[in-house]
Amino acid sequence: MSDGIRSADVVIVGGGVIGLAVAWRAREKGLSVKVLEREEIGRGTSYVAAGMLAPVAEAEFGAAGKRLLELGLRSAEMWPGFAAELERASGGEVGLLRTGTLLLARDEDEARALERQLAFRQSLGLPAERLLASAAREREPGLAPTVRLAIECPEDHSVDPRLVLAALRQACENAGVEIRERAAVESVELDDAGTRVTGVILRAGERVPAGLVVLAAGAWTGQIAGLPSDAQISVRPVKGQILRLRDPAGPGLLRRVVRFQGGYLVPRADGSYVLGATVEEKGFELSPTAGGVYELLREAHELVPGIDELQIEELSVGLRPGTPDNTPAIGPGAVDGLMWATGHYRNGILLAPLTAELVVAELAGVPA
Ligand code: GLY
Repeated sequence: MSDGIRSADVVIVGGGVIGLAVAWRAREKGLSVKVLEREEIGRGTSYVAAGMLAPVAEAEFGAAGKRLLELGLRSAEMWPGFAAELERASGGEVGLLRTGTLLLARDEDEARALERQLAFRQSLGLPAERLLASAAREREPGLAPTVRLAIECPEDHSVDPRLVLAALRQACENAGVEIRERAAVESVELDDAGTRVTGVILRAGERVPAGLVVLAAGAWTGQIAGLPSDAQISVRPVKGQILRLRDPAGPGLLRRVVRFQGGYLVPRADGSYVLGATVEEKGFELSPTAGGVYELLREAHELVPGIDELQIEELSVGLRPGTPDNTPAIGPGAVDGLMWATGHYRNGILLAPLTAELVVAELAGVPA
């Protein structure tokens, strides 16, 4: 960047998909932007994520579910344009696959539950179609004969988060965002009155001044000190174990994303698959366990027996950032100049484009 960034207008705490998406879009609006990442850019929760863009498949009952659905539908609609722009800005691909998603039931109880899920989606006018087992198997011959019922969500797709992260980093760098790694933030700094953000203090002691601070630190948000207790948002880590598999025979075992009680299997274009994920309330504990892996493989194998032949490439563990109702905190905080972009729980990849738009509209002082 030729105009040189001295003191950033905006400091973004967290270099995952949310922090980078906000950074890229904020820089595009002409703001000078600094991203501070506690470890390596894009190697935290976003790196482990499967990349489902599935607001319809994941729709849940209740007020929190309704809010999440509204956000998810808006962001899913933005994804194709966001992906195309990001690919242009970075020169890299993001692996958007428009395959749709199947929700699967394997016994009578699950089939009854799936019928209720279908009725719920149809009552909201969401795109979801009931498929008899035979029709589901015609569309996906890799499914087991034991599948009882399926719902097809034709507009729920996927991206490859690792490609998205690489593209976002490149787009940020091309646009002139300053990125600092191993720059863990200890606290937010406030003015003497305690009502306005003036920057952040790094764990190493350095002060980084900024007029605006975006907290996009995911599961680590709660470790950042300096805010009065009534200005804080509670974010807890929710552990997820996830497997990356590869079919030595190439792509074709499964085309669509499939979801089932206890997990999901997400195909990539190259014959690799992401099998996830456990949901464990274990604080910041990051050890993979035999039990977690066994459950993932057992559930998936019942529905897609061909996974037996897949090679295990990676077992990873991520920490989803969960708020008390598991809906994200997006927008201004109780302190002037502070912006939240955190608590995306299971939906960080899906909600990245919308979060960036909403936060950047606030940063730039224009309506979204
Ligand atoms: N979004 C999928 C998961 O959290 O496992």
